[in-house]
Amino acid sequence: MTEYKPGLEGIPATRSSISFLDGKKGILAYRGYRIEELAEQSTFEETAYLLLRGELPSAAQLERFDQELRQTRRVKYNVREIMKFMPLTGHPMEMLIVTVAMLGMFYPEPYLSGGSEEDQAYMDAMSLRIIARMATLVSMWEQMRRGNDPFLPRDDLSYAGNFLYMMNGRDPDPLFTRIMDACLVLHAEHEINASTFSAMVTASTLANPNQVISAAIGTLAGPLHGAANQRVVEMLKDIGSPDKVEDWLDKRLVAKQVIWGMGHREYKVKDPRAIILEKFMDQVADQKSGEIGELFATARALESACADRLGPKGVYPNVDFYSGILYSQMGIPLDQFTPIFAVSRAAGWMAHWQEQIQANRIFRPTQVYVGAAQRAYVPVDQR
Ligand code: COA
Repeated sequence: MTEYKPGLEGIPATRSSISFLDGKKGILAYRGYRIEELAEQSTFEETAYLLLRGELPSAAQLERFDQELRQTRRVKYNVREIMKFMPLTGHPMEMLIVTVAMLGMFYPEPYLSGGSEEDQAYMDAMSLRIIARMATLVSMWEQMRRGNDPFLPRDDLSYAGNFLYMMNGRDPDPLFTRIMDACLVLHAEHEINASTFSAMVTASTLANPNQVISAAIGTLAGPLHGAANQRVVEMLKDIGSPDKVEDWLDKRLVAKQVIWGMGHREYKVKDPRAIILEKFMDQVADQKSGEIGELFATARALESACADRLGPKGVYPNVDFYSGILYSQMGIPLDQFTPIFAVSRAAGWMAHWQEQIQANRIFRPTQVYVGAAQRAYVPVDQR
């Protein structure tokens, strides 16, 4: 009998050259470049190019890619018209699943054959379109649910700057733009996590890229994956203050409930992305005390209280532990944290979509059957 591993733990699902992760040493690299360097020196635009094409762009290549992204941000007016009929109380992740799938209806798809030149041109064009428009959809929805007309994208701003502008309707703050850009870089790719696997499985059927990304967004929406960033801030608010952490944590662990933003299938040390985000937190926490300062202090107290109790199991802060506090500082509502994750991860998903198509075989795992032995059908009047 084939050995069954719950959650497919440790089972390779593909051969990939997109990112490398060493969970014992806390190393994450995209195409060979450590994320610490990328967060410090790169931009989301350049990182997206790197993930999609495999190499860092030359200055001219980057300029062209950046311009193409800027020129592709707008969506057709009928997308906005359709969005007007969506329930304003719905979660933005649901809006995103629907609108990303809907964008596919505007672009008749060629049949992918797997690896031809036409395939590559189509994959390049669709990757650009989806990455460019994800932030537009999220920020349009933010304005629409506040009862406002959405802002048109601004071509003079970077991806991160334009996103903050469309979310808030103000010229973006330079420090927040820098931090948002780094957040987008840090969330862009993470090898074969649940949503990327979902994208690969959907891609392997030769479904179109909008269907691929829509499936991945649905997978990211779960709290054990992308939605943990929203749960973390809700949890910190629920705790209230640093002095309440110890009691709260003990009760929570006795009740066998998870601590949001802690633990990871692959990392057995602190997630390197959490280390970078925490440093950004240091920069902004000085600027504002009040609620954000309290959230940050509570998070730090919780991290140190968890070190004794969960550290021995290899459970440490993951990427979601500090990201939500940063987004709160930028004035972004709680339920938009996971959509920001999706905006960024679209770059990694598209890279995996391309990689899957270039060497495709449909996913079709097996199972260990544990059901009833074969038996005769009993007509309903004899049961
Ligand atoms: N809070 C409390 N205990 C946790 C925990 C958490 N956040 N994460 C893991 N553990 C415990 C598990 O219950 C298990 O305990 P046991 O050995 O006594 O049964 C042990 O630590 C090992 O867990 P592990 O096998 O590493 O977890 P997993 O791979 O099945 O699950 C997650 C990984 C991410 C789903 C899990 O850590 C979790 O639910 N985290 C909270 C949600 C979250 O932040 N998700 C975002 C991930 S980026």
